[in-house]
Order: sequence, then structure tokens, then C-alpha cells
Amino acid sequence: MKLIHLIEQLPKTELHLHIEGTLEPELMWALAEKHGVALPYDSVEAIKAAYQFDSLQSFLDLYYQGADVLRDEEDFYQLMRSYLQHCHADNIVHTEIMFDPQTHTERGVGFDVFMPGFQRAIDEAKKQWGISVYLIMSFLRHLSEAAAIETLNKAREYYPVIKAVGLDSSEQGNPPEKFVKVFTAARALGFKCVAHAGEEGPPDYIWQALDLLKIDRVDHGVRAEEDEQLIKRLRDSGMALTVCPQSNIKLCVFDNMAQHNILDLLEQGLCVTVNSDDPSYFGGYLNDNYKALMTHLAMNETALVQLVKNSFIGSFLPAEEKNKWL
Ligand code: HPA
Ligand code: ZN
Repeated sequence: MKLIHLIEQLPKTELHLHIEGTLEPELMWALAEKHGVALPYDSVEAIKAAYQFDSLQSFLDLYYQGADVLRDEEDFYQLMRSYLQHCHADNIVHTEIMFDPQTHTERGVGFDVFMPGFQRAIDEAKKQWGISVYLIMSFLRHLSEAAAIETLNKAREYYPVIKAVGLDSSEQGNPPEKFVKVFTAARALGFKCVAHAGEEGPPDYIWQALDLLKIDRVDHGVRAEEDEQLIKRLRDSGMALTVCPQSNIKLCVFDNMAQHNILDLLEQGLCVTVNSDDPSYFGGYLNDNYKALMTHLAMNETALVQLVKNSFIGSFLPAEEKNKWL
């Protein structure tokens, strides 16, 4: 079978996806009109044209601004529904989705608004397409640890539907060590732990995430390649890395896709996976990311199959579920 068809047809998981980053310009525009939110754009095309970034922060500024149009339960339902439709189209059978409560609670939109919206779309997708979904509650690292602890406490009613906690937003200057207490508390509550580390930040942030936050999976982690000892640690422990190729190009982590190190990391024996991160902002959903590796890095069938297997191995599915797909 041609590689492109294999990409499309293989059942896959996605492990690094921010639901707020799936807000398409068309939906942003429609919700701004619905709620009378003033956007600094005069058309959908102008929104799309604004998606030129030179760093993580330049993207985050637009990402938080965009999320401001999400106001009621129906908006969050539509957002989740539309991402899960993409999952169905890309043959994603299991997805572990990050959401940023503080992006909403900070502007007066509570858990009682976004959680029921998400849940309705998830229940429908399970019933309609058999997609399995886990939720990862991410703390914003540019805010304080006290704010993260407050968020963990506010989420109490929803613990049964949350699988893991995560750490995202501005990496530089906000090291994992800032969040030891909240991750210790989350782990004690039985949550799996993930953290963005080594996207823009140094390898030391990956060490901190492993040793201090005791994470179960690294989000991004591509800067691990600068530290041989770290590569060994990640390989020996079988730690999964959720790499996001198109995101890394859009945010200038690598100059272009031909420079991306994902296949080098794979060759070094790391459990790297392919993910879309914020597909609406970065120009592609999951299969587009795999196709970019085929086009620009000459990914072959063996590498593709290993990456897809890794997506199951690195997931938080129970062993018997994973094994069904391996
Ligand atoms: N990095 C950090 N924070 C984020 C990202 C990312 O790629 N996407 C959404 N929040
Ligand atoms: Zn991310």
C-alpha cells in the first residue's frame, strides 16, 4: 500500500492536542458575532492571515485572544464536536485531549459551562464513532502555583472524567520546579502527569519535569537531543515524547521540516509520537503531520508503523486496550 494511504488508514491515537487550539477561524468568527465580541480582524481571511508566529509567546497571545469567544456550553460542545469529527476523518481511535481551565475561569467562564459542553460531544463521538477520549487538565505556567492549586480544587466534581494533569503556556522563565506542590497533590489524587518541556526551554526543564514533577510523559521534549545523558534516561525508561512537527515549524523551533529531529530521536530508540498540538493555528490535523514527515523527512513505512505503535504505547490506555492495537 502507498505510504499516504497507510497514514490515512492506520488506526492511531493522538496524545498532544489542546482543544482551544482547534478553534477554526470560521467558528471564531461565528461565535464573536453570536456573543458580540469585538475581534481585531475584519474577516475570516484576516484571522487566517494573522497566524504568522516567530515564537511560542507570539502564538499564545493570539490563542488566548481567540479563546475569548468561547462563552457558553454550546460553544464548547461545538469546539469539541468539530475536533472529534476530525479524529474520525483521520482514523484516530483514541485521543487524550488537553484543556486549559484557567483560560476560561480567568474570564468568568466556569467548569460548569465548559465541562458539560465537552462531555456531550465526547459522549456522542463515543456512541457514533466508537472514539475513546481521555481529558488532561493543563495548568498555565505563566500563572502562579497557587492559581494552579486553586484550579485543581475547583475541578473536584469532575475528577472522575479527568485522566491526567498537564503544564502548558509560556515555557521560558517558568520552569517545572515552580509547580512541584500541585503535581505532588495531583499524583496523590491518582492523576497521571504530563508537562510541556524542552519545546523552547532547555534540557534542564525536561530533567526537572522527570525528577521533580515525576511526569509519565513529556510534551514536546525535542531539545532533549542537546543532552546525551537525558537521551539515555528517556530511552532506558521508555518515556514517551509527544512531538508536534507542524507546531515546531510554525513556532520556529526548527527552521523547516527537513531540519526536524523526530526521526533521529526515533532512531536513537526514543518512544516518540506524532501529534498536532493546535491544528487550527498550525495548519494541519494529525494525518497532515504524518504526511509532512513523509514529504520532508522521507519517513518510510517502518518508521511510520513504529510512530503509530508508539502512539498506543505512550497512551494512558490500560495494557489490555493497548495490546488490542499493537
Ligand atoms: N506550548 C505551550 N503551551 C501551549 C501550546 C504549546 O505548544 N499550545 C497551547 N498551549
Ligand atoms: Zn502543546
